[in-house]
Amino acid sequence: MANVAVIGAQWGDEGKGKIVDWLAERADVVVRFQGGHNAGHTLVVGEKVYKLSLLPSGIVRGTPSVIGNGVVLDPWHLKAEVEKLRDQGIEITPDTLKIADTCPLILPFHRDLDALREDASGAGKIGTTRRGIGPAYEDKVGRRAIRVCDLAHLDELGPQLDRLLAHHDALRAGFSEPAIDRDGLIAELREIAGFVLPFAQPVWRMLNEARGRGRRILFEGAQGVLLDIDHGTYPFVTSSNTVAGTAAAGSGLGPSAVGFVLGIAKAYTTRVGSGPFPSEQDNDVGERLGTRGHEFGTVTGRKRRCGWLDAVLLRQSAAVSGITGIALTKIDVLDGFDEVSICTGYRLRGETLDYYPSNAQDQAAIEPVYETMPGWSESTAGARSWAELPAAAIKYIRRIEELIQCPVTLVSTSPEREDTILVRDPFADQKLSPGSAAAGASLSPSAAASEPELPAAWSAAWCRRSDRSSAPWYRASARSCRCRWCPHRAPAQWYPRSHRRSACPSCASDDLGWWCRSTAAPFARSQRSESAWHRQGTR
Ligand code: GDP
Ligand code: IMO
Ligand code: MG
Repeated sequence: MANVAVIGAQWGDEGKGKIVDWLAERADVVVRFQGGHNAGHTLVVGEKVYKLSLLPSGIVRGTPSVIGNGVVLDPWHLKAEVEKLRDQGIEITPDTLKIADTCPLILPFHRDLDALREDASGAGKIGTTRRGIGPAYEDKVGRRAIRVCDLAHLDELGPQLDRLLAHHDALRAGFSEPAIDRDGLIAELREIAGFVLPFAQPVWRMLNEARGRGRRILFEGAQGVLLDIDHGTYPFVTSSNTVAGTAAAGSGLGPSAVGFVLGIAKAYTTRVGSGPFPSEQDNDVGERLGTRGHEFGTVTGRKRRCGWLDAVLLRQSAAVSGITGIALTKIDVLDGFDEVSICTGYRLRGETLDYYPSNAQDQAAIEPVYETMPGWSESTAGARSWAELPAAAIKYIRRIEELIQCPVTLVSTSPEREDTILVRDPFADQKLSPGSAAAGASLSPSAAASEPELPAAWSAAWCRRSDRSSAPWYRASARSCRCRWCPHRAPAQWYPRSHRRSACPSCASDDLGWWCRSTAAPFARSQRSESAWHRQGTR
């Protein structure tokens, strides 16, 4: 699995920028595939802080970066962001940045319309970023958009502009706004075209060629699954599909190119803008999360709403987006809480739900059900290895894995690029460099590179089952075991039943037994045996 798609698994601002920047070191190309400059990513590299909205986060590392066809592009914002980053010493040239010539443009009247609609919506406002994202996507599917390639043909735009302006002038009249100045618009486009066109090309060609040559592609999503136009908390969503499947359509590569789907999730939850938020803490807890996590929007500066981690929504995000592994960020923000809570279900009119209902009235009526765990007083800030995390933090992470049925493959412990713990390398065919990733997971480089990682929830189910039934495939294949709560590893003979409830010699955990890791597992050999294992292990 050479390629990796990074997507937000909550309502955005999960720390995608930091993780993409970190992974970009080993990618050959980074591609943005949806959204526009509504995104806002903060990257911290030593003393320097970079703020990106439209450019792929890989650009800061100097990794060749692509803006795919799924992105809506404000050319004036592009110029401003490129110039700002150049001032910070980042080299951006047509060699390092390529823009799909089929990207629809965000034009000044899209921005106006976004704001006019928000202002007129009263309590029903979505709380958009007012950057024209929704109106630009509407024009794309309405087949009225002006696209990047059209900037080279401004004298032939007549019929396209007729359609576009007829639509918008009617809308503007409804808001008592003057009609669009057609000549003024063309003049503005002519002026900016010279800046944009050198970056423009049919990027699908170079991406397919790169793929053919086995280059590693890192797809960078913006926003988060809960803001997805289909799967999010509609209508309080953005106007694009933010799920991982969009990486293929939004870049011009087929679905099999996507590879490992890395969902980024905060160790708690935040949201900017309006809309439901079941685990929101509009109280001291929320204030404390916001203050410790510096939860203010990168784009609009708005205060982010804060709450506990919602495992129901996260499980749903992982399912609808096919998330392979989670990068859990901002665990350090929970340091010092006596207790931490996780939303594990909802109650709706006397019934318990393990999913988020689709209807807005039901969404408003649900009550979250919480599970509370002990917090930790030690600091996790800046931790770069699993062994540096307190046992209670590890238990919290493991509980999340169980609840969302998806393994945590990375943990981020500060805004700084290198303060990251790698549990499993998403570029799985890559050898881990000694002392970095593998050390973070407290595995030797060779062990980390050769041992397939089991999805946590599955391995737990599998261990419990093999406990009961002494399944032959376990005995034939298992070579070593690992404590579920710390990196302690033990030879296989330590595992069997008699040891299941004894304390781990390293962290003294007496909870939940051992976590098997297998070096020659039948499920790693072929897809067929994997599904056979999965069926047997989870029943
Ligand atoms: P994005 O939109 O998903 O890229 O996320 P943002 O950049 O909008 O917001 C995430 C914020 O959290 C940024 O200010 C990051 O610098 C910061 N951040 C990322 N990871 C961590 C972490 O592990 N701990 C802390 N304390 N801050 C983090
Ligand atoms: P990143 O990539 C958080 C939210 C807005 C609003 C809704 C619709 O930084 O995670 P839009 O302008 O897209 O029409 O607004 O979506 N929103 C985000 N929230 N992070 C983002 O991006 C967001 N991009 C849009 O606040 O609620
Ligand atoms: Mg953001």
